[in-house]
Amino acid sequence: MILITRKEHFSSSHSLENINLSKERNLEIFGKCNNFHGHNYYIEVTLEGTPDPESGYVMDLKLLKKIIRDEILIHVDHKFLNEVDMFKNLIPTTENMAMKFWEVLEPKINRDNVRLYSIRLYETEKNFFEYFGK
Ligand code: NI
Repeated sequence: MILITRKEHFSSSHSLENINLSKERNLEIFGKCNNFHGHNYYIEVTLEGTPDPESGYVMDLKLLKKIIRDEILIHVDHKFLNEVDMFKNLIPTTENMAMKFWEVLEPKINRDNVRLYSIRLYETEKNFFEYFGK
């Protein structure tokens, strides 16, 4: 078994808000993150697999790059996350983003010799979030 990783970057804006709560309670929970602001995110998508005997690849990284672009980047890069379809009814915290990205990537990646292993999402240089599936 070997792990392979593709790293990508995107920039998005959001405001953290639970629409079911009062303005005061939102401010209490989210503080200044309740205001409109942006992040430069980095995402690392790691796959676990065995090399295909014909190609020697676990997965061609050009293909992984395309999957990440089509399923995630075109939907979130330079977008306001609160209004993006995949985050409907979700507070766009980095935790929720990592879990949602897993949900959209996994069916596009898993096949006989390879499966999605982890998603690591950097919100800042100092804060990152990892999801390994359920
Ligand atoms: Ni934020």
